[in-house]
Amino acid sequence: MGGKNPYIEETKDAPATKKFKVTFVSEERTVEVDPEKVPYGPDGLPGSILDISSGFHLGLDHACGGVCACSTCHVIVHEGLESCNEASDAELDELDMAPGITPQSRLGCQCVPDGTKDLVVEIPEWNKNFAKEPEH
Ligand code: FES
Repeated sequence: MGGKNPYIEETKDAPATKKFKVTFVSEERTVEVDPEKVPYGPDGLPGSILDISSGFHLGLDHACGGVCACSTCHVIVHEGLESCNEASDAELDELDMAPGITPQSRLGCQCVPDGTKDLVVEIPEWNKNFAKEPEH
């Protein structure tokens, strides 16, 4: 799946124009995001945390394919949240369904960093997809 959800309003985001880093704490992995390589894949908004996670095979679940129609891509942005786009009403509605939400919670498929800060992100244990696809 993937693509855009025609039933929600478009998000306003300003994708990164320079390289920045995202540390995924549970995976103990820091990746460098290169705007020239975005989108990394078909799922979620281009340059979103889901897109980044998929690009580096970090196993963030995304049952709806990244179209803001579930909450399985829930992440907690511990640092750098101020550099991300504002959550839309549709995102906040879906996020309400996620277990364990915090003030730093976002849907990974809708959260697009602008690259002005490095991020520290947690994928909650229950949102990890352990059936990882092989790298191509
Ligand atoms: S993958 Fe379904 S809302 Fe993000």
